[in-house]
Amino acid sequence: MKKGLVFDLDGVITDTAKFHYLAWKALAAELDITIDEKFNETLKGISRMDSLDRILAFGGKEDIYTQEEKEALAAKKNTHYVELLSELSPSDLLPGVHDFLEAARVKGIPCALASASKNAPMILDKLDVANYFAHVVDPATLKKGKPDPEIFLKAAASINLAPEETIGFEDAAAGIQGIKEAGMYAVGLETTEKLTGADIVVKSFNELDLDELLTH
Ligand code: BG6
Ligand code: MG
Repeated sequence: MKKGLVFDLDGVITDTAKFHYLAWKALAAELDITIDEKFNETLKGISRMDSLDRILAFGGKEDIYTQEEKEALAAKKNTHYVELLSELSPSDLLPGVHDFLEAARVKGIPCALASASKNAPMILDKLDVANYFAHVVDPATLKKGKPDPEIFLKAAASINLAPEETIGFEDAAAGIQGIKEAGMYAVGLETTEKLTGADIVVKSFNELDLDELLTH
């Protein structure tokens, strides 16, 4: 029997991937690097600085910027990304998410957020679902990003559960890998790319029954 839930944010609770993509694409273009949607898939779940490093490596420019310059580039992307999120509202919750969180609340099943995004608290506020989460892991406290299991282990511990007692929800391959390495049950939310390694894969929360899921 599972006793707690651990959620990724981008691509699970709301679809912010398109905004991350637009902001990275604009920044990359300024650096004479062209990225496409297929490359963008490899950035899902990856931290801001690691994403920048991957983009620079993709464009063959990994060695030309200082750490300070890279931080300025990442900050510029983030300012643009946050602007793109200005209209985000509860209507941007992905299908079935609100009912699923509400079902967990009614049953007293604790929820934690395991997102690589430093914008997560702001996004949860805009979506009006912050109150459903007992804890939001601060990605600044992590030694390693996804696919390392650290963020999921911290999330389970934050709701006083062993990882084996929790279910993780992810849309990214790196996240599924982290959930499985943490010893949790993995639910994959599949969008464009095929997700492998999850215990089950669904297209939306509408396909999930909380009671049945908890029996795993
Ligand atoms: C993840 C996204 O949730 O957060 C990544 O899938 C993103 O694409 C990462 O790079 C970090 O987000 P932020 O908001 O801190 O730049
Ligand atoms: Mg995600």
